Amino acid sequence: MSLRVLVVGGGGREHALAWRLARDPDVGEVLAVPGNPGIAAEARCVALDPTDVGAVADLAEREGVDLVVVGPEAPLVAGLADELRARGVPTFGPGRDGARLEGSKAWAKALCERYGIPTGRSRAVTSVADGLGALDELGPPYVVKADGLAAGKGVVVTEDRERAVRALEDCLLRGAFGEAGATVLVEEHLAGREVSAFALTDGRRVVPLGMAQDFKRALDGDAGPNTGGMGAYSPVPFVDAAAARAIWGGVLARTAEALAAEGVEYRGVLYAGLMLTADGPRVLEFNCRFGDPEAQVLMPRIREGLARALLACARGDLGDQRVELDDGACVTVVAASGGYPGAHETGFGIEGLEEAAAIPGAVVFHAGTALRDGRVVTAGGRVLAVSGLGDTIGRAREVAYEALARIRFRGMHHRSDIAAAAAAEGGAG
Ligand code: AMP
Ligand code: GLY
Repeated sequence: MSLRVLVVGGGGREHALAWRLARDPDVGEVLAVPGNPGIAAEARCVALDPTDVGAVADLAEREGVDLVVVGPEAPLVAGLADELRARGVPTFGPGRDGARLEGSKAWAKALCERYGIPTGRSRAVTSVADGLGALDELGPPYVVKADGLAAGKGVVVTEDRERAVRALEDCLLRGAFGEAGATVLVEEHLAGREVSAFALTDGRRVVPLGMAQDFKRALDGDAGPNTGGMGAYSPVPFVDAAAARAIWGGVLARTAEALAAEGVEYRGVLYAGLMLTADGPRVLEFNCRFGDPEAQVLMPRIREGLARALLACARGDLGDQRVELDDGACVTVVAASGGYPGAHETGFGIEGLEEAAAIPGAVVFHAGTALRDGRVVTAGGRVLAVSGLGDTIGRAREVAYEALARIRFRGMHHRSDIAAAAAAEGGAG
């Protein structure tokens, strides 16, 4: 095979996808929309808006690509995969119906309840009065979520009832998230450790890819505001064999079955955000795409067969495809702009990219960068994800931080405790 693959998106996750695909013996050429300066080293970048469904589909047709791999959720929710499939272009990523798994938390919860997929109790409400009842019924700590896509800002977890009520009112009275907050989910609070699990599916069969843990808070010790993710590592040593069985079989395989039973032909990634509770794994949320920055630790661990498996999913027939991860570990640390996730300046020159990439086992993924006068500059909140591979989490962590230490830009901020606890727990998991 000498596949021509189009990667949709321009962040760190899409750089990791393009980087892996460009090294896949089954891939002849990688294209990207819009890509970024890092992706440009692996792929031919075309400046298009990924949510401009018609324009992206036109490009895929014109270029005669064999496979489109959609990175972010927004184009999926906008129906990019539906349009591409309608034009006969094999596409990895669910259609609009499947993207509801991420696009409507209430729909995803209801699916879990109908098909016995383990998750916490919850109430979907559309009025403050019903919301207050749900807060009292489910008790503190309170968990209040906007139903739709809210760029990670739609979730409030709090002991403070007044804060919870304010979150309800923000959504239902003040329209803080527009349509996305017209329905609100009040959830039972779940205690435990969090893990992200990723599986590929063709709509019937499920192939486990791997697990990772990401770090959502901005500052060391899980302090500070929520972000898109400040780092990640894989594998996850605290997931034992029983939990892994419950996750692959009880959650992900069952979710694929549930989707099929609902008439949804889901061809893409199932990403479950899980809490490992004393009673076993429970779904916190689903996403319909790879995690960012989880992809930056999974892609470097893939041995072979990614393109073939993604294409098989896209064609709706996984057969007996498998994707193997290496036995080692990978850690990624995000270098963010000063002020992120709040207001931040961009346009600062980035030094040390080559020195960092020269460290054995290190890969520097671009997340928010741009080229200006031939120079790579910062162009977003999350600027780079610096990944390190090693035999153990501890070694991978050393490589990532050693590479990160070569990189400088004005205001650069990163966490210094990514994977520290997991490294101390030892082993490759
Ligand atoms: P979500 O976007 O739904 O993953 O929520 C963001 C974060 O809020 C999660 O990563 C958890 O840390 C926390 N969270 C969400 N739902 C719950 C819950 N039911 N119980 C405890 N923590 C939660
Ligand atoms: N790292 C969290 C996400 O991709 O949603």
